[in-house]
Amino acid sequence: MDRPNANAMWGGRFQSGPDAIMEAINASIGFDKRLAPQDIAGSRAHAAMLAACGIITEEDQRAIDAGLAQILEEIEAGAFEFKPALEDIHMNVEARLRDLIGPAAGRLHTARSRNDQVAVDFRLWVRAQCDAAIAGLEALMRAFLAQAEAGADWVMPGFTHLQSAQPVTWGHHMLAYVEMFARDRARFVDARARMNECPLGAAALAGTSFPIDRQMTAQALGFDRPTANSLDTVSDRDFALEFLSAAAICATHLSRFAEELVIWSSAQFRFVRLSDRFSTGSSIMPQKRNPDAAELLRAKLGRILGAGVALFTVMKGLPLAYSKDMQEDKEQVFDAADTLILGLAAMEGMLRDLEPQRDTLEAAAASGFSTATDLADWLVRALNLPFRDAHHVTGTLVARAEQKGCDLADLSLSEMQAVHGEITQDIYSVLGVRNSVASRTSHGGTAPANVRAQIARWKEVLE
Ligand code: ARG
Repeated sequence: MDRPNANAMWGGRFQSGPDAIMEAINASIGFDKRLAPQDIAGSRAHAAMLAACGIITEEDQRAIDAGLAQILEEIEAGAFEFKPALEDIHMNVEARLRDLIGPAAGRLHTARSRNDQVAVDFRLWVRAQCDAAIAGLEALMRAFLAQAEAGADWVMPGFTHLQSAQPVTWGHHMLAYVEMFARDRARFVDARARMNECPLGAAALAGTSFPIDRQMTAQALGFDRPTANSLDTVSDRDFALEFLSAAAICATHLSRFAEELVIWSSAQFRFVRLSDRFSTGSSIMPQKRNPDAAELLRAKLGRILGAGVALFTVMKGLPLAYSKDMQEDKEQVFDAADTLILGLAAMEGMLRDLEPQRDTLEAAAASGFSTATDLADWLVRALNLPFRDAHHVTGTLVARAEQKGCDLADLSLSEMQAVHGEITQDIYSVLGVRNSVASRTSHGGTAPANVRAQIARWKEVLE
């Protein structure tokens, strides 16, 4: 029955085997071998269900299970030979099973297709990556919290347009990232819950006439339930698209903090010092300490977003149900997941080692007339000026200070009064940067008291 050149798994009606170029474009084993543990777990659950439902014998099931366990060991030991002629991980495993246990191996594929098989393998893999991303994000959030706690009341410049705007606290700035990464975490948690339905049993596209128990395989593989529609099941890659979308937003956040680190660690800013462990030197300029890890993290979004663009483009316009186009899903997601998990760990490491330079931060906070808004607010509160008038008076005072080359607090009372006669000595009480941040106690504001309350809240959340 076997034709020597035809594929042993599906070559029954074929006279010849594939052209070498066909094999090269068709084979996915070069990358989908990463799904081996998931493929074997799926097959073991499927075989156990087939036996429980009386579709295969207990004896065959035991042989299949032992064979699959051995194959997993061989793969983990690096002793398994992956063959491109066998196309993909599913057929590589099944062919080896036949070597090991003989014809009983052929019963494993009853009531199953590679279409539901790859769908379950890939879901299990992406689900595990969601868990890894969630763990990485929690570790990163803890590192931000540690930084926030150490400098809850340290004053630094807050920027808009990268121009000094108003003083803020270091703790507040760190907590801004905790908020961002908490939203990322929630996106992975949410995506994980939605993808946690088991495709096994959808078979090729229409379901099966065998009396299978989909609840049983779903439960065995840790899914909440089986998927509801077989056509949707074998053609759905939403879980991968959601993972890539969440990963892209998360990588955007990583790139933003990375950019701040690049700016802050420069000789012109000196807001922070990156550790030797996360810096590199230059081969020609001995004085250099380059923030390479931060720069790479700033760049990594390109790959992750690129993976998303690639997979959206693959999926767009595909008619139901499975099409081979969908084999193009894996490399993108593998690369994006690897990049994201490494990026989260690198950012956490950099942050743990990061030494913020308190004095430089505070000195910078005071420059650039950063308390001008406090001055305007004082005019409103103390003199009952409309805010627009107060803004104008303050602008005039800023211009005076700029002319003199001094700070707002260095203008004398008579210089102030020359601009507005009712200004009193009390105005100086709001001009210090510490006064400024301490006064910003509105919900979500930068005051150290708020920062400490938020740190306590987040610590509770993360426990
Ligand atoms: N290697 C394939 C993939 O990744 C497995 C499913 C193949 N199904 C098929 N009907 N050819 O999509």
